[in-house]
Amino acid sequence: MARERIVIFDTTLRDGEQSPGCSMNVAEKQRLARQLDRLGVDVIEAGFPIASDGDFNAVQSIAAEIRRPIICGLARAMPQDIERAWGALKGAARPRIHVFLATSDIHLQYKLKITREKCLEQARDAIRLAKSLCQDVEFSPEDATRTDINFLCDVLNAVVEAGATTLNIPDTVGYTVPADLGAMMRTIAQRVRGVGHGVVLSTHCHNDLGMAVANSLAAVEAGARQVECAINGIGERAGNAALEEVVMALKVRSDQYPYETGVVSEQLYPTSQMLSEVTGVAVQPNKAIIGLNAFAHAAGIHQDGMIKNPLTYEIITPQSVGVPDSTLVLCKHSGRHALGQRYEQLGYQFDRRQLDDIYRRFILLADKIKRVEDNHLRELAKEIGAEKPGATPAASPSHRDSFQKSYPAAISAETARAAGHEHHGEQEDYLWGV
Ligand code: KIV
Ligand code: ZN
Repeated sequence: MARERIVIFDTTLRDGEQSPGCSMNVAEKQRLARQLDRLGVDVIEAGFPIASDGDFNAVQSIAAEIRRPIICGLARAMPQDIERAWGALKGAARPRIHVFLATSDIHLQYKLKITREKCLEQARDAIRLAKSLCQDVEFSPEDATRTDINFLCDVLNAVVEAGATTLNIPDTVGYTVPADLGAMMRTIAQRVRGVGHGVVLSTHCHNDLGMAVANSLAAVEAGARQVECAINGIGERAGNAALEEVVMALKVRSDQYPYETGVVSEQLYPTSQMLSEVTGVAVQPNKAIIGLNAFAHAAGIHQDGMIKNPLTYEIITPQSVGVPDSTLVLCKHSGRHALGQRYEQLGYQFDRRQLDDIYRRFILLADKIKRVEDNHLRELAKEIGAEKPGATPAASPSHRDSFQKSYPAAISAETARAAGHEHHGEQEDYLWGV
């Protein structure tokens, strides 16, 4: 049976761009939009056209060039914003205007200084105007998760009546938790006309409590069929739900989430790399799916397991997200198995006694220095009087450069496996390489 589709709405170029240090010019946004198209996202939120002429131009040029996905532009619930957004979007093959207006009492009282009645009227008028320009209109009640649920449903019913076809529920301040958001989504699905019948429920979670992805998945379980997310999880403050995490959670745990997305997962890492290159903002090494360490193994026990069968320590193949290979990093936690393999790659052949000797020296050194590099390994080999290798050392494959720069003495797990492990007892590194 065909699985229901979760619409992946990418907001890297809009909310993501609102991350300090992540702003992008027109050419940079165009480059990323092409990559997002290759990645297979359904919607690209290309910018906030009223914000600046640059953003207007970026949305306009992306709308003109990228024809498969929906191209979306953000607008406050104000005529000048909506008209400006439409000005940028009207050349798109599939344009969408995304209108937002805060609905929580905190925002109404302190920020907008309007009553609930005025808020409802403004939202309805804005959607009517947007709908008169564009068929595809999305509405977001900003700070929805801190909004009174009865008022929220009133506003949502009003905007559906005015023509909104996507209702996005933003957890603007990253306050919600999975159970709360799930309950809120279920209530909305029950009480707002049209949800599931032409009106799509959407989720947009911020990561202030580190729960953006978990909240997004809870929303999906409760009926959301669009997830708004950003590459590398960038976005206001602590960021948005990370697109790569949402997509891979849906894919790897398809037993829990019987849905499909249109994302080509092999493009996740290239997209992440491109974003970091364009913005100059690096990804934290332990970031799930696309971080430098996401497929790097340091402990001897783990390295040994990886060499025997990657299923022991990996739930995702690196290749399935576009990472060239897993890496076995040589450090004080490494075992003989991985060390011996790296020496083989460098052209050395050690017998068992030599490997034990060099391993002890390696651990002493690794205890003192953080990064063991190939030149250190050569020095250690000299110390035990090992023959200098005659052949040119097997260099790490060039496509693994980004890993090798950070872990110069790392080895690729695939190469290690290919080299075999027959000279090792079944549990050697399990027992020794702790
Ligand atoms: O977080 C938020 O509330 C937003 C809206 C504009 C959708 O980004
Ligand atoms: Zn947001």
